[in-house]
Amino acid sequence: MVWLCMSSENLSESDAKRFETLAVTHGEEPDLSNGVGDVTSPIHLASTFAVEGIDMNTALEDLDPDADEFLYTRLSNPTRHAVEKRVAALEGGEHAMAFASGTSAIVAAVMAAVEPGDHVVAFDDLYGGTNTMLKELFRDKLNVAVDFVDATDPETVRSAMRPETSLVWMETPTNPLLKLCDIEAMADIAHEGGALLGVDNTFMGPYFQRPLELGADVVVHSTTKYINGHSDSLGGVAVVSDDDYAQEIGFLQQVGMGNVMAPFDAYMVLRGLKTLPLRMRQHETNAAEVAAYLESHDAVAAVHYPGLESHPQHELADEQMDGHGGVLSFEIDGDLEDVERFVAALEEFTLAVSLGGVESLIEHPASMTHSPLPAEERAELGITDALLRVSVGVEHPKDLLSDLERGFEAVEKGRANAADAESGASEASDESDASEASASMD
Ligand SMILES: Cc1ncc(COP(=O)(O)O)c(C=O)c1O
Repeated sequence: MVWLCMSSENLSESDAKRFETLAVTHGEEPDLSNGVGDVTSPIHLASTFAVEGIDMNTALEDLDPDADEFLYTRLSNPTRHAVEKRVAALEGGEHAMAFASGTSAIVAAVMAAVEPGDHVVAFDDLYGGTNTMLKELFRDKLNVAVDFVDATDPETVRSAMRPETSLVWMETPTNPLLKLCDIEAMADIAHEGGALLGVDNTFMGPYFQRPLELGADVVVHSTTKYINGHSDSLGGVAVVSDDDYAQEIGFLQQVGMGNVMAPFDAYMVLRGLKTLPLRMRQHETNAAEVAAYLESHDAVAAVHYPGLESHPQHELADEQMDGHGGVLSFEIDGDLEDVERFVAALEEFTLAVSLGGVESLIEHPASMTHSPLPAEERAELGITDALLRVSVGVEHPKDLLSDLERGFEAVEKGRANAADAESGASEASDESDASEASASMD
C-alpha cells in the first residue's frame, strides 16, 4: 500500500529559487480559485473532509494532497501538507512527513529502518531523550542492538559496524557538547555496510546544514526548536528522498503510530519558517560574541562552540556547515554551588530546557536534559556538573554579555561570602577554644 507521502514535487522548478524565498512562500501560494486567496495558509482544523460521492475506484493511496484531495486529517491535512512541502524543499529532499514532536519523527525514522535482530550504531553524545529511546524502546523492547560510539572519529564508527547493522544514527553538532561527525564519511561507512544514515539536524536547521546533500538517507528535526523558533509549538519532521523509505515512514506517521503534527502547530511552523534565515543569522552572530566572551573569561574552564578556532573540529564545521549555529556549552571553573549562583543571578537567560527560540535560554544538562543518564555515563561523556548549555537568542548581544557578567560577579561574590563565613566560623571556633582553655585554666 502506498501512503500519502508529501512530495516536494516541483523541486526542479523550486530549485531555481533561493532558500530565503522558499522559506517564505513555498507550499503556501495564494489560491484564488476559492474566491479568497489567503496570502498565508489558513489553519485547517477539520478532522474530516467531505467527498463528492461514493467512488469504488478511488483508493486511499490515490488521494493527492497537491490536487487538494483530502479525506481525514490523520492521513493528510492542507496546513500540514504545506509544512511538509516547504521543509522538503528547504532540506533538498523529495518527501517530508510532519509529526507531533521531534521525538515522534525520530521514532518513525528509526522504526522504518530496523527490524528485530538488527543493529544500530549511534553517536554517544545524543540528545538524552534519543539515547534513552534507543536503549529502552529499541534495545530493551524491540530486540534491536545498539552501540553508542564516539563518532568524531569515523574509524570508530566503521569498527562498530556489524553485518546486521541497518542504521547509523547521528546528530551533528551534538547536544550538549557540540561535537561534530563528518556526514559524508558517515554516509560512506553506512552505505558500505548496507545500512542507512539518519541525521538529527535540529541544532543547525536546513539553513546552515543539509545532510541529504552530503549523503544522509533521512534528516529529522525537532521543529520545536529553530524551525518554529518561538518556543510555542511542539513538532517534528522527517525528510527523505527514497520513495520506499518515505512510504515506510508515511505508514508509521499516518497508520502505524498516527503521531501527526496538529494543524495549529503546522500553522505556527509555517509562520516561523518565514523568518528562519533571518533568525539563524542573528542567532549565529550573537552566539559568536557570547562564545568569544566566554572563552576570554578567567572563570570559564572550557567553551564548546564549532565557530571557535579552538573547537577541535572547527575545520570540519566550515566544510560541512554554512554557519555555526546558536547553541554552545561551557564549563564554569568551579563547582555545582558556583553554577547555582551563576544561573540564579541571570536576568536575560531563562533557566529552561529546549533551544532554538528567539529568547536566550540556559540549562544545566547534568540535572535537566541529561539527568536520565547515569552519573558515571555522564562523567564518561564529559557532561560535568559545571557544564551549562546556552541557546543564544536574538536579543542585543551587549545585553546578553552584561547578563553573563552579572552571573560571574555573583559567583565571585558568593565565593567571597562563603570564604568570609568560613573564616568567621574558624575565628569563632578559635575564640571558643580559647575561652574553653581559659575556663579550664580557672
Ligand atoms: C537534538 C534534539 N533532537 C530531538 C529532540 C526532541 O524533540 P521534541 O522535544 O520536539 O520531541 C530534542 C529536544 O530537545 C533535541 O534537542
